[in-house]
Amino acid sequence: MPPMSTETDSAALGRLYPDHLREIQTRHERALERAGASHAVIFAGAPRTVFLDDYNYPFKANPHFLSWVPLRANPWSLVVCTPGKRPLLVYFQEKDYWHSPPSDPTGFWTGEFDIRIVHTVEDIAEQLPAEKDKCILIGEVQNDTQAFGIERINPKSALNILHRARGIKTEYEVACMRAASRRGARGHAAAEAAFRARATEFDIHLAYCRATQHTERDLPYSNIIALNEHAAVLHYQHQSTQRPDAQLSFLIDAGARTNGYACDITRTHSFDNAEFAALIRRFDALQLSLVSEVRAGVNFPELHLTTHRKIAELLVEIDLAKGSPEALIESGVTNAFYPHGLGHLLGLQVHDMGGFMADDEGTIIDPPSGHPYLRLTRNLEENQVLTIEPGLYVIDLLLADLAGTPGEKMINRSRVDWLRPFGGMRIEDNVRVTANGCENLTRDAFAAI
Ligand code: GLY
Ligand code: MN
Ligand code: MN
Repeated sequence: MPPMSTETDSAALGRLYPDHLREIQTRHERALERAGASHAVIFAGAPRTVFLDDYNYPFKANPHFLSWVPLRANPWSLVVCTPGKRPLLVYFQEKDYWHSPPSDPTGFWTGEFDIRIVHTVEDIAEQLPAEKDKCILIGEVQNDTQAFGIERINPKSALNILHRARGIKTEYEVACMRAASRRGARGHAAAEAAFRARATEFDIHLAYCRATQHTERDLPYSNIIALNEHAAVLHYQHQSTQRPDAQLSFLIDAGARTNGYACDITRTHSFDNAEFAALIRRFDALQLSLVSEVRAGVNFPELHLTTHRKIAELLVEIDLAKGSPEALIESGVTNAFYPHGLGHLLGLQVHDMGGFMADDEGTIIDPPSGHPYLRLTRNLEENQVLTIEPGLYVIDLLLADLAGTPGEKMINRSRVDWLRPFGGMRIEDNVRVTANGCENLTRDAFAAI
């Protein structure tokens, strides 16, 4: 297996990083101006302890902190941004013999910061600007100790600017996401091979983790490893150790990370059923036709509604339902087979912030009525990275809701019965918007590995 992160990858990211950091600094300077403050303290966060226990939950760093430095396992560290000055990194290196403390800071990013290493929580506040009333803190604060004497925590005026800006990726961020996509693609290839060898969900999960060299902690979200009818559960959360009686289908929604940046990829496979395999190919063409519509200026809710139209046509074509596309959409039939959004912004978070924001004031664009799960409503712009993930499932809970409505009569029950054991399908790519189209990070990654 080739190494995960080669010297060349790291060197290339290092060349892109200074420009990225300048952009992050500029965004924070704008946020400070809007908030009427002089310093932003961006706090990685502190561990959370399990109720009645002395173990911590896996640490998840504040994504705002990660936009400055690729330090995912450094609780209590923070960055201080002061306009016109080099950023300061207060690097927390606890003297702790129960755990392995963070090693000294190394990597392509270190040359861009003034770095002060502190060893106790009490010493952190001393490194911060003395004028606490001129500071804002950005991060999760669970108690007063974690506020370091700062009173203005996560002011909306500043966060609106940062959240909207995060929708647009720098070249460094796109390069990280390309690397994450290749890592994820290796995992998907290994998972498919395990499925073909009749592995259980649990063993497919392990094959994925081995190929991506991720533990559960490193994954951007819990793997969705769904055999047969489990593929109909949108966020299926178990990994069964039982081998199913029949091996029919496999839906895998699994990601990976590089320097904190995620990929979010779904593929669906047929084991040996030719008709289901043909349906997946047909669905893949539908997904690609949606990807081909992505470009700067596109209204994403309209593209989501186009997806419903395409799915309505497909339902008729494969005899799952009958009726005009308008009638199938109006009656809720397409919503029953495809009950989630077409996609979402992606970055340091799997569902990146800012998908609903019309402007820096934080004006919200609501999803179209009847489509509450659509998480991206702002217009597409160059250098956004988003997912395109149509799906088609047999979800009896939702089909039952159609009982007694006009939609019920449009559905072909015997065809639904045919599809039910396969669960369903979703195909999810991550794309970077360009002026005239998009770069498909996912397809490029599969082609490269
Ligand atoms: N993996 C979660 C999602 O696709 O949104
Ligand atoms: Mn997704
Ligand atoms: Mn996904």
